[in-house]
Amino acid sequence: MASENIYILGIESSCDDTAASVICNGHVLSNVIANQKIHEEYGGVVPELASRAHQQNIVPVVDQALKKAQITKEDIHAIAFTRGPGLMGSLLVGTSFAKSLAFGLNIPLIEVNHMQAHILAHFINEESYSKPPFPFLAMTISGGHTQIVKVSDYFDMEVIGETIDDAVGEAYDKSGKILGLGYPAGPEIDKRAQLGNPKAFKFTKPKIEGLNFSFSGLKTAILYFIQNETKNNPNFIEENINDICASIQYTIIGILIDKLKLAAKQTSIKHIAIGGGVSANSGIRQALKNGEQKFGWTTYVPKFEYTTDNAAMIAIVGYLKYLNKDFSKSEVTASARLKI
Ligand code: KG4
Ligand code: ZN
Repeated sequence: MASENIYILGIESSCDDTAASVICNGHVLSNVIANQKIHEEYGGVVPELASRAHQQNIVPVVDQALKKAQITKEDIHAIAFTRGPGLMGSLLVGTSFAKSLAFGLNIPLIEVNHMQAHILAHFINEESYSKPPFPFLAMTISGGHTQIVKVSDYFDMEVIGETIDDAVGEAYDKSGKILGLGYPAGPEIDKRAQLGNPKAFKFTKPKIEGLNFSFSGLKTAILYFIQNETKNNPNFIEENINDICASIQYTIIGILIDKLKLAAKQTSIKHIAIGGGVSANSGIRQALKNGEQKFGWTTYVPKFEYTTDNAAMIAIVGYLKYLNKDFSKSEVTASARLKI
């Protein structure tokens, strides 16, 4: 007997991307994202503008996700939405939309933790991408978070290290601001880093014990370095931009890999996955590949479109919870500081 096709609609609205995706039995049928350009002119996400843009985008984005998947809303088995963590005003738009649609269609509603979703994105069915076996270590590196998580099962996760101040994506974005680059600066620093000399300038790594991270000192070191150099040469940034980006990227990746090495040693786990916006970075991808040779790791890097915020990762968690019949009550509310 052929098994039934289970369609899950995922909705993501935790920060500045409004996204919707339909997956069928773990395969992505559509993955639609509306980026909010409005924040570029402010050099960072403005929460009030983000929630207003979500309100404008959510209906067309969901509509497009259904059309691209070639299904109607009556075909959906359940609706998964990001409950948190994230910006409260942004989360509320996705949460209330998901609740009303599930109520209207009389189908289950499934809450999803955004940080779990960055990790479980590895379980989206994709040809030529293998899924990590349990237990594995996941390093989630994004604009809001930097964590190392021991993943013993889909929903058995333990945070074993995290940033005590800025997230790694913030380190990229704030460095970019100092250098006069646009927002978010991560992708541009990455592009320029590939053209520069990573050892041109040296920035000291923070000395934080154990598996926690700190990035705020690096940002300050970069600021003082640039202030100092531009005093002598006002064109310093323009003349050295690729080398500066390469040196920043080299330092950041060094910090991430050092902690991963320690985590792998402490837990004796050699299956290592990354997730979150910064896992799109070419340098960290290469460093992980090198780790396979150097440290005997098996590494898992998500497909590019499932690294930055997206709704396919929300839908896959929805599917895994659907199989467990792990549904949310209709009273569920958004939670800005939701923990793994
Ligand atoms: O996961 P994400 O889309 O949103 C959050 O949940 O924060 O991550 C966004 C972050 C931004 O800080 C952005 O600069 C960074 O990911 N990012 C990158 C790259 N692509 C995105 N950082 C470094 N290199 C990249 N290629
Ligand atoms: Zn994210």
